[in-house]
Amino acid sequence: MNPLSDELGRSPRPCTLVIFGATGDLTRRKLVPALAGLARDGLLPAAFAVVGFARRDKSDEQFRQEMTAGVDEFGREGVADSFAAIVDHLYYHQATFEDADGYARLGARLRELDAAHGTRGNRIFYLATPPSAYSSILAQLAAHGLSQEEGDQFARVVIEKPFGRDRATAAELNSQVAAAFHEGQVFRIDHYLGKETVQNILALRFANRFFEPWWDERHVDHVQITVAESIGVGGRARYFEEAGILRDMIQNHLLQVLTLIAMEPPVSLEADAVRDEKVKVLRAIRSFEPDAVARCTMRGQYTPGFVGASEVRGYHEETDVAPGSRTETFAAVRLEVNNWRWGKTPFLLRAGKRLPRRVTEAAIHFRRPPHRLFEGGAPRQRNVLLLRIQPDEGISMRFGSKVPGPELRLRDVLMDFRYGVAFGGRSPDAYERLLSDAMLGDATLFARRDEVDEAWRIVDSIASGWREGAAPLPYAAGTWGPDAANELLAGNREWRRP
Ligand code: BG6
Repeated sequence: MNPLSDELGRSPRPCTLVIFGATGDLTRRKLVPALAGLARDGLLPAAFAVVGFARRDKSDEQFRQEMTAGVDEFGREGVADSFAAIVDHLYYHQATFEDADGYARLGARLRELDAAHGTRGNRIFYLATPPSAYSSILAQLAAHGLSQEEGDQFARVVIEKPFGRDRATAAELNSQVAAAFHEGQVFRIDHYLGKETVQNILALRFANRFFEPWWDERHVDHVQITVAESIGVGGRARYFEEAGILRDMIQNHLLQVLTLIAMEPPVSLEADAVRDEKVKVLRAIRSFEPDAVARCTMRGQYTPGFVGASEVRGYHEETDVAPGSRTETFAAVRLEVNNWRWGKTPFLLRAGKRLPRRVTEAAIHFRRPPHRLFEGGAPRQRNVLLLRIQPDEGISMRFGSKVPGPELRLRDVLMDFRYGVAFGGRSPDAYERLLSDAMLGDATLFARRDEVDEAWRIVDSIASGWREGAAPLPYAAGTWGPDAANELLAGNREWRRP
């Protein structure tokens, strides 16, 4: 990873970014506003162009206007002027994803832009389309020689999630990718890895001395990773019906956070050194046998309820949800990382839609002291190191302290570090970091082929148990999921109420 990239003084080489699916939401809400943020921070290459590739008919000028509106609506504060200065480097290319002629024209257009902007034949192809288009795009790029790297030119491909819908489809996609690009050219996005606080897990663990000696099964009772969202499926039910929260969130974001918490220290921050350690963690997680699925996982589906003061409908009432759908909108999983460091320390993962609030955190719960010297006061909880990933980014520690006064009474207190207070300002969006790394050619924060494969192996074993099992348990929107999630914890443990 290069949290240190600025200090290393690396700057991106000239290049053209081609965005497939340029009229979609991701481009307008995330990618182009992220480019605007990079422009403001001086992190774009000096010679740079963007080509939006999509089906609809549109002029360069229309595309520029729409992207400017996207930046105004979704960009960070203060980026509009910087975007205005680069907006005439944006171009629109109309073609269908299957149309060979469209790629021949793209090749010619890219060569013209090289001459006009000095982008020197370097290209990044960003696949921001529905996954059904990936295979045509990859095949066409290869057929037109656009994936080839000549001399010191680079050609890279950035692939959005979902990366397959199970292990077999991911493997097929990986083969299609490998037929067009070699692994060093491939950047599989998991936007959680671009979040500052996720990157900070490595800094916390490996740039400091005092966390690592307790970071094992002797000291850690269990780890809870929570990604709670208050939103429902909104207009995305068609996709979500196919995915469910297991594939949408656990296969990628939660397992990625888990690997960063559980991994061994890498020998360097080189992309493969970090990813080698992450993949070992996934390999140490066994596939679930059907009886383990019943014991160690549970799923739920939201019914009507209230999130804050708003009354919201249940999953079955959402547009495009099939009658009787068994798609899960909440999942909790208990798993073990079977290696020397983690022994039997459980990792408890939960993710859900329509929970009371939006919060992502990882909580390391420590074992109780071996001898109970102090009695009295409120019943004490375990010491917790809490990594708050969003929205209130920071780290806190919960420990027992003496309550002032003549009696010896203890109470849990919090020691708190807040990003906003310590560093001021807002952290850059995850997409800024990831686009910048793709331009720098640093793949540390992107999933490698074997990581994706191992994550699907684990998730497939859960999904196959669920196919046979009972339907998801109902939970009212605005609650923390079905009560049965508590049964996974055992051993006098409770889910946190963040
Ligand atoms: C996406 C999922 O990957 O992550 C969405 O497809 C989810 O369903 C989103 O809402 C959450 O991302 P964030 O950054 O808002 O936590």
